[in-house]
Amino acid sequence: MNAPALRAALLDWYDAHARSLPWRAPPGAGKRTDPYFVWLSEVMLQQTTVPHATPYFLAFTRRWPTVSDLAAEEDAEVMAAWAGLGYYARARNLLACARAVAGRRGGVFPDTEEGLLRLPGVGAYTAAAVAAIAFDREANVVDGNVERVMARLFAVEPPLPDSKPELKRLAGSLATADRPGDWAQALMDLGATVCRPKAPLCDRCPISGACAAYARGDQETFPRKTKK
Ligand code: ADE
Repeated sequence: MNAPALRAALLDWYDAHARSLPWRAPPGAGKRTDPYFVWLSEVMLQQTTVPHATPYFLAFTRRWPTVSDLAAEEDAEVMAAWAGLGYYARARNLLACARAVAGRRGGVFPDTEEGLLRLPGVGAYTAAAVAAIAFDREANVVDGNVERVMARLFAVEPPLPDSKPELKRLAGSLATADRPGDWAQALMDLGATVCRPKAPLCDRCPISGACAAYARGDQETFPRKTKK
């Protein structure tokens, strides 16, 4: 399976199996979902799973339907609503970013990775994810799920965390300008639902034919980790 065939197989799988999530546009919709929704969901999802974050996402967007509504809220109210998601520094960054977008930009998110990176509290992962998912910009979106998929696909021997740059490079070797938002989310969904940390469902994997670890039969031993 070459890179274009692998991409086509995974995007076809995503078209059929994408999880229906409240911040998501349907696959191939062309028109993306609200950048505020994408940004908020990505910040929440950096520290927890989709099932845990979803009720928080729904509560936040019901109470603060736009980034300007969130920006105008009292700190203590937002902190209280964040309780249960952990890492309060992230909630403080969330508010700083919302206020920058609402105050300096009239509530409009930048639509490029570089522009997003200039916002307070927005790191490399969030900037790439929002650029791809909200604006369909080509970006290399790599979270823990994607690292695991790459480690197995390419049977990467060096252990995490040292292998992170190599895993990111490998993910970048598959990224293209064709449906970047769907591609990013297809990889995440594959990692979350099929290429799971334990007991991966390789018989349901659309790209098992390209997977070096699967060919060897030791897929579950990837990603290698430094012994503690
Ligand atoms: N994990 C982080 N971001 C995600 C997204 N947009 N879809 C599914 N899982 C995710």
